Amino acid sequence: MAFVVAVAQRKGGAGKSTVAATLATALAAEGARVALLDTDPQKSLVRWYAERRAQGGGDGSGRAAHAPRPIAFDSPSGWRLGGALDRLRRGGGVDFVLLDTPPHDDTDARLAIRNADLVLVPLQPAPADLWATDATLALAAGERRPVRLVLNRVPATGKLAPQIVDEIARRRLPLLNEALGNRSAYPSAFAQGLGVVEAAPRSTAAEEARRLARAVAALREEG
Ligand SMILES: Nc1ncnc2c1ncn2[C@@H]1O[C@H](COP(=O)(O)OP(=O)(O)OP(=O)(O)O)[C@@H](O)[C@H]1O
Ligand SMILES: [Mg+2]
Repeated sequence: MAFVVAVAQRKGGAGKSTVAATLATALAAEGARVALLDTDPQKSLVRWYAERRAQGGGDGSGRAAHAPRPIAFDSPSGWRLGGALDRLRRGGGVDFVLLDTPPHDDTDARLAIRNADLVLVPLQPAPADLWATDATLALAAGERRPVRLVLNRVPATGKLAPQIVDEIARRRLPLLNEALGNRSAYPSAFAQGLGVVEAAPRSTAAEEARRLARAVAALREEG
């Protein structure tokens, strides 16, 4: 049964598209069958997937010597999402569906959240990201969907991230232990239509991506 993960966060630029692509590629690299759906009219992942196909990846039709693992891709707009997910579920050939969602637009984000088995909320360790998270948590609570926060772009040093982690703990919000650091490997892989596990498999970023993928896979097992 496909496990549907909506990556949602009202705050723009928190890392939704990066986390969706990073997770999709890391899960696929571990042998899972993955579909990625871009529901954001900005279409960041549409561009990403076009680059991926140019690299010989994507749907598996490429002929590159070290083609990245195939990932099914679609970009259904708002009301088409339910049908696209039904087709994927009926087809039975997918383990994980990752949904990238738009910022600011609660209608489209709500649709994605409603269809999700897990809502993953990336946030940068900054007050504005934590404040914006409340709106996304309220959406998920309204739809009675399980939620996990994931810290993204965590700086290597400084006091802000520990302060935000303390605040999250104080409020008893469900934060994953697995976080992504602020690393150029992420935008660099993204620009090539790849994930960090593919573009830089030995990097610290790739290790972070694999850990996050395993955490999400474990939540699927908990079901
Ligand atoms: N872990 C990271 N390390 C370094 N740069 C990152 C990281 N995550 C995201 N970025 C960069 O931050 C910017 C915003 O990331 P991204 O596009 O994934 O956010 P988003 O939430 O999808 O944005 P939007 O709300 O506009 O859809 C991009 O330039 C991206 O490359
Ligand atoms: Mg985005």
